[in-house]
Amino acid sequence: MTSTVMEIKDLALEFKVSRSIVDVIRRRPGKVVRALNGVSLHMEKGETLGVVGESGCGKSTLARCIVRLYEPNRGKIKFRNQDIFAADFRNDRSYNKRVQMMFQDPYSSLNPRMTAGQIITEALSVHEMRPPAEIPARMAELLDLVRLSQDAAEKLPHEFSGGQRQRIAIARALAVEPEVLIADELVSALDVSVQAQVVNLLLELQERLNLTIMFVAHDLRLVRHVSNRVAVIYLGRIVEIGDSESLFSNPAHPYSQALLSAAPSVDPDDTSGAIRLEGELPSPLNVPPGCAFHVRCPYKTENCTRDIPVLRLIENMGEVACHNAEEIAKNA
Ligand SMILES: Nc1ncnc2c1ncn2[C@@H]1O[C@H](COP(=O)(O)OP(=O)(O)O)[C@@H](O)[C@H]1O
Ligand SMILES: [Mg+2]
Repeated sequence: MTSTVMEIKDLALEFKVSRSIVDVIRRRPGKVVRALNGVSLHMEKGETLGVVGESGCGKSTLARCIVRLYEPNRGKIKFRNQDIFAADFRNDRSYNKRVQMMFQDPYSSLNPRMTAGQIITEALSVHEMRPPAEIPARMAELLDLVRLSQDAAEKLPHEFSGGQRQRIAIARALAVEPEVLIADELVSALDVSVQAQVVNLLLELQERLNLTIMFVAHDLRLVRHVSNRVAVIYLGRIVEIGDSESLFSNPAHPYSQALLSAAPSVDPDDTSGAIRLEGELPSPLNVPPGCAFHVRCPYKTENCTRDIPVLRLIENMGEVACHNAEEIAKNA
């Protein structure tokens, strides 16, 4: 039986960009960056949802909204049916425990002056996870859980490798016994071999602790291995969402196809490289009208420049926001 842990509806967030002096003199209105532009998705208990897309598409903004670092301009986020921005829930600190975020850069997210032991101990005591007398034993247990040796407790973050630092970040997140982990580019800065170790650890812990994970990455290689479902995001909108295996083997949206063919293939003889991503990602200050992808899309038709496609379920595929998805599939 599945149960919905997180439900996101029509989430939108604009950042105001400060006006230049010329804008002020000419009385031009301030510009806005549309970082999220109507994102809807849900997460089921125990699953891993991959979120992929080029840099600047809004992935981190989405992650930050979920942990209430940003407040959206529109839309809702519900955690177990509770609106997380509702006035009466806003100060509920238990939410901050139950949904934990881990960042790409453990240099900036781990206090450089605290030992690994102190970092984990702090999480345990601030959230009163154990009576004080039991905290050292629990800290030792958490080091074990992420496969760090006990002498790690005495070391400072800079004494660890990148992969080990991410293990400390995982231990700190797990200290408060969360239900949901938001992993924003958790392993993106690590070497490929180390990435695999950290990701395998995460998967193992997920199974043991029945965690729900959002795995955010711009690099697709690990996402397939990690995720049950994948959401492809482009300029603040989900353009395709569906079962990971079918999305990777048979992507329906031209953007997903391009992302996949741009990703290094595991098979060196694979020359299929369907379509190339042409041109640059348009600025989120100036999102193209209609389908935002049309300026880079080899299949665009006239309506693509005018009408915004909505996500719709397509037979034998996931949900796709493309006017021409059926035609594209037929001619593939
Ligand atoms: N605090 C902010 N202020 C202004 N613009 C921002 C802020 N955070 C993100 N943005 C802009 O929002 C867009 C989406 O950013 P982000 O969510 O970080 O994308 P991603 O994580 O997919 O790379 C980008 O154009 C980025 O420059
Ligand atoms: Mg990001």
